[in-house]
Amino acid sequence: MVMDVITAANARQASLPANAPHVIRMEVGQPATGAPAGAVAAVQAALQAGLPMGYTEAFGLPSLRARLRRHIGEWYNLDVDPSRIAVTVGASGAFPLAFLAAFDPGDRVAMATPFYPPYVNILTALGMVPVMLETGPETRFQPSVAALEQLHPRPDGLIVASPCNPAGTMLHPDELAAIARWCHENGVRLISDEIYHGLHYDAPLATAAAHSPSAIVVNSFSKYFSMTGWRIGWLVLPDDLVRPVECLAQNMFISAPHIAQIAAEAAFDCTAELQANIARYRRSRDLLVQALPAAGFPRLSPAEGAFYLYADIADRTNDAQAFCARMLRETGIAASPGVDFDRARGHHFVRFSYCGPEADMAEAARRLANWR
Ligand SMILES: Cc1ncc(COP(=O)(O)O)c(C=O)c1O
Repeated sequence: MVMDVITAANARQASLPANAPHVIRMEVGQPATGAPAGAVAAVQAALQAGLPMGYTEAFGLPSLRARLRRHIGEWYNLDVDPSRIAVTVGASGAFPLAFLAAFDPGDRVAMATPFYPPYVNILTALGMVPVMLETGPETRFQPSVAALEQLHPRPDGLIVASPCNPAGTMLHPDELAAIARWCHENGVRLISDEIYHGLHYDAPLATAAAHSPSAIVVNSFSKYFSMTGWRIGWLVLPDDLVRPVECLAQNMFISAPHIAQIAAEAAFDCTAELQANIARYRRSRDLLVQALPAAGFPRLSPAEGAFYLYADIADRTNDAQAFCARMLRETGIAASPGVDFDRARGHHFVRFSYCGPEADMAEAARRLANWR
């Protein structure tokens, strides 16, 4: 559905006269900014120096893995041996490695609805069985130990994401710690998608790796580091899955792209630029959190992180797809209907992404204020 909205938004933009107001892209989930300048410069220098771009070790360049260890130490005050860190082809490349190593066909893997659709699609393609935990505003669309206790039989795994896509909400450190402990004690393999870490605005951050020796952490350079197209991510693995994931990675990917690993390592030294991106997201978030309720979207999930606002539009429509199509037609704003993220309730939700240019977000607020 999101891909259909992107196609429709492209078609509308192409059909507009040159002087018409442009389509504002609030359906996309990727930063409008490119890779930080220091990352690009490192790549240029490596190419200039004629560095051969061969395969790296399956788990990545040792220097990048050492830098990731430092990063994990700085952000979470946690020391992870680099032997447990695997560089991957984005978070997307990490998921099949993690799922194949952790689960067998037929295993049941729980997650909160609404969810990031590839969790379900990849699990299903691998013969695993997604189990939906319906969540709502009372738990900020996040799972809880209480909800997990209700699952019979116990699932084999649980995927959490904090901040999450599409709701933009977080598991607060005590909540994540409780879930991680519960999973470990109950033999439920926890997979924590931490791709939006760094893009969080108020609540403090925690990593599942600090709270469970059996959890798998997935992360990426796509969001905080603004490097979607470079296709680099990483896994923090529990000891028992290091070798299985290494064997899978050797066979499935050989390695992540060498050149992108060089860029990723350099991105750690671009903090000022990355913080400026986040300051922009924060301003856009603050503006939209004020403006959207006045524009007829009063039921927003708390915008704690990532760059998404998830709006319950039950009082306006029961057909989010038609609603988004009309919004695109009448206001020139593209947003995603909730159906991709929640097959049962998504028809009365819309996801707005605010990672686009700041001026566009302000213009979106103006356009929506005049639209019903
Ligand atoms: C929650 C979540 N996890 C993973 C991904 C995939 O990211 P990557 O670009 O690292 O493959 C996305 C992309 O939007 C996402 O929203």
